[in-house]
Amino acid sequence: MNKFISLNKVSKNYFKKSKIKALNNINVNFSLGKIYALIGPSGSGKSTLLNMLSLIDKPSKGSIKIENKLINYANSDKNDLYRSSSIGIIYQNYNLLNDFTALENVSLASLALKDNLKLSENNAKKTLIDLGLSKRLNHFPSELSGGENQRVAIARAIVNKPKIILADEPTGNLDLKNAKSVFSELLSLKRSNRLIIFATHNRVFADMSDCKIEMIDGSIKSINGKL
Ligand SMILES: Nc1ncnc2c1ncn2[C@@H]1O[C@H](COP(=O)(O)OP(=O)(O)O)[C@@H](O)[C@H]1O
Ligand SMILES: [Mg+2]
Repeated sequence: MNKFISLNKVSKNYFKKSKIKALNNINVNFSLGKIYALIGPSGSGKSTLLNMLSLIDKPSKGSIKIENKLINYANSDKNDLYRSSSIGIIYQNYNLLNDFTALENVSLASLALKDNLKLSENNAKKTLIDLGLSKRLNHFPSELSGGENQRVAIARAIVNKPKIILADEPTGNLDLKNAKSVFSELLSLKRSNRLIIFATHNRVFADMSDCKIEMIDGSIKSINGKL
């Protein structure tokens, strides 16, 4: 579906000592079946944009439509449910729960939707095994390498088979070998009924996307490829 996500004049301001324009009048669409790279220097607004798309944070101005429906930020229960079922989020620092094992971290994401412990555990186990973690199911994040933790985080992000995957510098904390292997896992998640958006500083990875969106000072500087 074309325009699966569309942003209309989206701005985001933060107020610290002075007003910071983190996003400035963004108009952009994202289509199913594609993988998008967000590039641009630190502070250009990549994470802020991903936070808007994940429905975690709300624009100061403008609107976002997903599946042709206007997001109503007042309806946080509905947005939380949509996020659980349809959006997988991967962070640079993994954001796993440290007191829970790999299997528990992924099971919890499934449980949030399925409300069935056994089914959630089975889903989680299968997803982790697919990502090569069969021998790490009962390990805690502190007992895993960076690459393994990010694979657990990927498993958590995809266990509910989301239509949207958002990844904020997913390989930023990894050495080159692990970065390459985690990035190829991310690429392999491409489907005709899914869209993937990742922020990166790595030009080689960005070049493997279908469309590169370059940001500067909260604005889109260039779009390279078809939206
Ligand atoms: N929670 C926040 N409070 C205040 N300013 C913020 C906050 N988050 C981001 N910013 C500011 O917004 C701008 C964009 O930041 P960010 O989206 O994190 O950029 P990027 O991910 O491209 O490095 C920066 O100037 C940053 O300092
Ligand atoms: Mg960032």
